[in-house]
Amino acid sequence: RRTQVGIIGAGPAGLLLSHLLHLRGIDSVVLERRSRDHVERRIRAGVLEQGTVDTLVAAGVGDRLTREGLVHHGIELRYGGTGHRVPFERLVPGRAITVYGQQEVVKDLIAARLAAGGDIRFEVGDVAVHDAATDAPYLTFDGQRLDCDVIAGCDGFHGVSRASVPEGELTVYERDYPFAWLGVLARVEPSAEELIYAWNERGFALHSMRSPEISRFYLQVPAGEDVADWPNERIWAELRARLETVPGFTLTTGEIVEKGVTPMRSFVAEPMRHGNLFLAGDAAHIVPPTGAKGLNLAVADVRVLTEALAHRYATGSGDLLDAYSETCLRRVWRAQHFSWWMTTLLHTFETDDAYARRLQVSHLDYVTSSEAAATTLAENYVGLPYERDL
Ligand code: FAD
Ligand code: DHB
Repeated sequence: RRTQVGIIGAGPAGLLLSHLLHLRGIDSVVLERRSRDHVERRIRAGVLEQGTVDTLVAAGVGDRLTREGLVHHGIELRYGGTGHRVPFERLVPGRAITVYGQQEVVKDLIAARLAAGGDIRFEVGDVAVHDAATDAPYLTFDGQRLDCDVIAGCDGFHGVSRASVPEGELTVYERDYPFAWLGVLARVEPSAEELIYAWNERGFALHSMRSPEISRFYLQVPAGEDVADWPNERIWAELRARLETVPGFTLTTGEIVEKGVTPMRSFVAEPMRHGNLFLAGDAAHIVPPTGAKGLNLAVADVRVLTEALAHRYATGSGDLLDAYSETCLRRVWRAQHFSWWMTTLLHTFETDDAYARRLQVSHLDYVTSSEAAATTLAENYVGLPYERDL
């Protein structure tokens, strides 16, 4: 089989790329290691930037998102016994976030691709990249061969794409954090209308949601924490201790349906290209989840890649492909900084001394009292504008 674009990975990046290319008349095949059921159930991100929503709607895959997504015009920062709302409607008029599970985006994209006759292979093994630096790159999997014009590495942080680039071709920038997030999904109505990012001495906690019946929570825990050490009672007690810190707020508890520990890291590999292999999404970069940027960055990357490939097929010019990495990295580094900034603002670091704690409180006070500082948070959180239209 031969295709124009061979895509590794059926996460948000690979699936959206396949769909956007299809809308431009460009053929692709998606190779995914896991089953359809597995990728549709994998619980991860939940916050979509305005631009991500606009991208999905414009691509014709936003019907359910528009119906079921929860549009939020602010978030709360909670610390020192007080909640402070960051009002997007005043600070960044016309821009909001939409709370809609990543696995719902994945379901909608898979459905759209299959309805259009798209070729997604699930449960393929041993995917390998060959001759990426030449004009005849190809993929192999399960003893089969797929010839491509270009390969899109959309296989996440632990995929084969980045690993297939020869040693020395990529420069890696990274930072590890001494903590992780314990994520919890519970069948209980949210205890607040908007997301609550809470800081206190016990560590960070986040109250999010998926629907009027489902709540989503995260707790800062030490790196390498075992989820087995977090029976449900301990989770609720810790969430209460970290969130019930303002008068009149009580956390409604319910059945926990899923829990897991996610490590936190910052990571960028540059450039996001090796010959005819283009890296997109988590395959090229990771941010700690505090700024809710990972999925949104993946969407931004594939927008740029789609435009560049469409330009190349329409004109024969590789100019936009040549600019792909640089174009993406401008947004990637903005998100790297914002995610690191939100993470240091809201977590407790064991190495912090009393002076560092005072600085952190001063930082929180500034962000919640200065219009300029709050606008910095708001404009990054809802997402900065894209450089180009699709
Ligand atoms: P992935 O979703 O990782 O998809 C990669 C795909 O490639 C997977 O399906 C994988 O199975 C497949 N694959 C891997 N290796 C191979 C192989 N060798 N062969 C074939 N297929 C392979 N981001 C936000 O924007 N907002 C949030 O609120 C947010 N919260 C998060 C909360 C948590 C707990 C976590 C874990 C992440 C969160 N993120 C958030 C980040 C977001 O989930 C990721 O950035 C996003 O999944 C990246 O999409 P992707 O398509 O690049 O990679
Ligand atoms: C969610 C995840 C995040 O990383 C975040 O910053 C906010 C919300 C969520 O899964 O709902």
